[in-house]
Amino acid sequence: MIAAAKAGVDDAAAFATKVISPCTFPRLPTISTGVLAAAPTLSTIAQQPSLSVLMTTLKTFGARLLCGLFGLGLTTSATLADEARARADYMIHCQGCHVPDGRGFPGKVPDMRATLPLLLSVEGGRAFLVQVPGSAMSTLPNDRLAATLNWIVKNFTDDKTVAAFADYTEQEVEQMRAVRLDEVFTTRNALIGHLENTHGGSAE
Ligand code: HEC
Repeated sequence: MIAAAKAGVDDAAAFATKVISPCTFPRLPTISTGVLAAAPTLSTIAQQPSLSVLMTTLKTFGARLLCGLFGLGLTTSATLADEARARADYMIHCQGCHVPDGRGFPGKVPDMRATLPLLLSVEGGRAFLVQVPGSAMSTLPNDRLAATLNWIVKNFTDDKTVAAFADYTEQEVEQMRAVRLDEVFTTRNALIGHLENTHGGSAE
């Protein structure tokens, strides 16, 4: 789970605790036997078929199955919620300059589809993505900036870049963000040079 979309996960976790708590079984006598106890019960059934034993076994199985399926659904929806929030954060905080597909504005805002693979392949580039003013000075807290950058990389760059990319964590973003980048263009040019074809640099 990405540490980033923490609030969403917390909500989901609180929800899960409420709804799933019966799945821990301790307070439900009918289904407290669990799988270990159910195994000997099954062999007992063979010798001495008893409807009530059978029912208990079925209930145990049913409850476990339902809880398992429910847990699976919850995990999926928490992941979808993380994705939706990162997308929304991009739209609210970044898209005004970077436009919906990350192509930016020629001569003003670099085309992230082209520059991120380059930046992520050079030393210092990973920190630069966090330290550029658009990222560092945004009002997003560290966990959500991490999630937004992860979303950007996964949605705007190529398969090779995504495959080599490890998600930013909240702690990593916190550390990188604390380093102030005074010379954005100088740093950027030192990292990937002046890229005419990616709308980059300050000279245009
Ligand atoms: C006011 C316009 C603006 C906003 C809003 C903005 N950016 Fe940027 N971004 C830029 C510009 C311009 C650059 C080029 C470097 C520079 O001048 O800061 C850039 C560069 C970047 C880069 C590095 C790519 C490169 O080629 O230099 C990343 C990553 C980035 N921004 C992420 C973000 C994120 C994440 C947000 C939202 C939280 C965001 N930006 C919001 C204008 C903006």
